[in-house]
Amino acid sequence: MRKRLLFALFLALGLALAASGEQVYVQCAGCHQASGAGVAGAFPPLAGELPRLAAAGEAGRLFPVKVLLFGLRGPIEAQGKPYNASMPSFGWLSDADIAAVLNYVFTSWGNDKLLPKGFEPIGVEEVKALRAKALTAQQVHERWQKLGLR
Ligand code: HEC
Repeated sequence: MRKRLLFALFLALGLALAASGEQVYVQCAGCHQASGAGVAGAFPPLAGELPRLAAAGEAGRLFPVKVLLFGLRGPIEAQGKPYNASMPSFGWLSDADIAAVLNYVFTSWGNDKLLPKGFEPIGVEEVKALRAKALTAQQVHERWQKLGLR
């Protein structure tokens, strides 16, 4: 009986967290679109691209956390197309909201099927630890260059 109650509690908690990632994403959809497809030449797609980042190793998996915390400014390439704009920082979001929205993005639009084996969702503690680095949007771009994705 107690086990079942605990299970129901965890399920409800899981659903609440999932919903919150989707809710936070409303703030991204104006640029990256609800479909995650982005807008060619202006806003890079997150569909297909987040698994590509995750496949670049731990620095790639954590790269989107840095983008949200500190913004991103400088030329990048996503899904074979160039982008050279600037994304504002979303550092005013809580660590939990940043983890939730990124885990939503990592697992939406078929991204879940493309993730590397053993992919670990972004943890709130990881966001907290990276926040202390206080990078600039240009320094985040240098991190992108080091991923070797172009
Ligand atoms: C005002 C428009 C805008 C909003 C809102 C926005 N982004 Fe971005 N995002 C961009 C732009 C532009 C870039 C590419 C910047 C560049 O060219 O250096 C980008 C880049 C990214 C990248 C890196 C993509 C890659 O291929 O490496 C991620 C991840 C990302 N955004 C996630 C998000 C998430 C999640 C949200 C919502 C919390 C969000 N963005 C909100 C404009 C936006």
